[in-house]
Amino acid sequence: MQGIIFNVLADFVVENFGMATWNNVLEKSAVPSGGRYTSGATYADEEAVALATTIAAELNISVSDALKAFGEYLFPQLLSRGPIVMQEYTSLQDLLTHLDETVHAEVKRVTPDAYLPAFEFFSSGDKGRLVYRSKRKMCAVAEGLLAGSAKHFDQKITIDHFKCMHHGHEQCEWNISFVGDL
Ligand code: HEM
Ligand SMILES: [Zn+2]
Repeated sequence: MQGIIFNVLADFVVENFGMATWNNVLEKSAVPSGGRYTSGATYADEEAVALATTIAAELNISVSDALKAFGEYLFPQLLSRGPIVMQEYTSLQDLLTHLDETVHAEVKRVTPDAYLPAFEFFSSGDKGRLVYRSKRKMCAVAEGLLAGSAKHFDQKITIDHFKCMHHGHEQCEWNISFVGDL
């Protein structure tokens, strides 16, 4: 997992719960890096999982709720600090249609050792179906990113996560309704 994600995770915890909580999380997770993350470097996925698990325990919420909240916070952060531009997209449907071949492809170009998820988006009218595959099974982060991106485009969506890798399916799938503008 890319260092930028860890940097944003640290900001997310510090901004919402304070420096003491983040220090506490680092100490309890006993991560090999010691908690110093460089934006362009790659760190073990296990570190991210260890941190997310400790954060959830500290906050007394489920890991999936912690990852969702983080994903929502992550979206504008990726836009503002990453080298990736996506200002040509004017709607969430537009972004999801191009997620793999432009946005994440650009991540791969800039950081070749990034491991990226695979997304497919099938759109029809005000409905769509999103398919997600990744060895990381981070559909909770994907849901948070969806919420964050809907907010970014001032759109209102409802989602139904009807297939999930955590429940034995080969891939995660969501039905998304684009209910309208905020
Ligand atoms: C709704 C939009 C998006 C969704 C659903 C999405 C989904 C995801 C997910 C689920 C991951 C976790 C990795 C995995 O599952 O294996 C990820 C990683 C990542 N995404 Fe996206 N993403 C979105 C938009 C963006 C945008 C706009 C950017 C940049 C401007 C971006 C940059 C990245 C980066 C840098 C990583 C980390 C790759 C790594 O650690 O190796 N994503 N994305
Ligand atoms: Zn899932």
